Amino acid sequence: MELIFATNNLHKLSEISAILKDKFSIKSLKDIGFFGDIPETNPTIPENASQKSHFIHDRYKINCFADDTGLEIEALNGEPGVYSARYAGENATYEDNMYKALKEMDRKTNRKARFITVISLIIDQKEYFFEGIVNGTITTEPQGSDGFGYDPIFMPEGYDITYAQMSAELKNSISHRGLATQKLVEFLTKY
Ligand code: IMP
Repeated sequence: MELIFATNNLHKLSEISAILKDKFSIKSLKDIGFFGDIPETNPTIPENASQKSHFIHDRYKINCFADDTGLEIEALNGEPGVYSARYAGENATYEDNMYKALKEMDRKTNRKARFITVISLIIDQKEYFFEGIVNGTITTEPQGSDGFGYDPIFMPEGYDITYAQMSAELKNSISHRGLATQKLVEFLTKY
């Protein structure tokens, strides 16, 4: 069965294609001739994931899924949340966003945070959601150089290293996106 992953992130695409290759042919936005940006204008992560999958489904009438992720910091009232990709401004880099979060957290004693990923899947006209949440803390300075985004300042619960100090394999097996993806894969392999 053909399934579109509504993302421009080729790394995410190849990762999930490899897992599902026996049963599903995962296609990219390029494969269907879509080269634009998908709007993400909602106030919550699940709504944004849903907006992205509906955007593609409505136009191409094909089975598809989309994901959305955010870092929610307790002492900042859940920020950056849906603004994680543009916390320090529209054209902000991963580093800009990470340093902005560190600055906002300066001298804050409550360092609790969580990463959340929601995947919205539309298959045979029905929508399903898959969620992955990882609780953790924000470090006081960046640690490690692997990964991307807020990885150097996010230390998941149960570990004394940040995401950026983990191998890609370990991070993927315990991460917010990893958990949501595992649920999606479990659903699709039984479908
Ligand atoms: P997206 O919805 O997957 O594009 O994620 C939105 C933003 O959240 C990204 O631009 C990153 O800043 C951040 N982010 C998402 N996943 C991760 C992760 O695994 N580690 C660190 N930052 C992440």
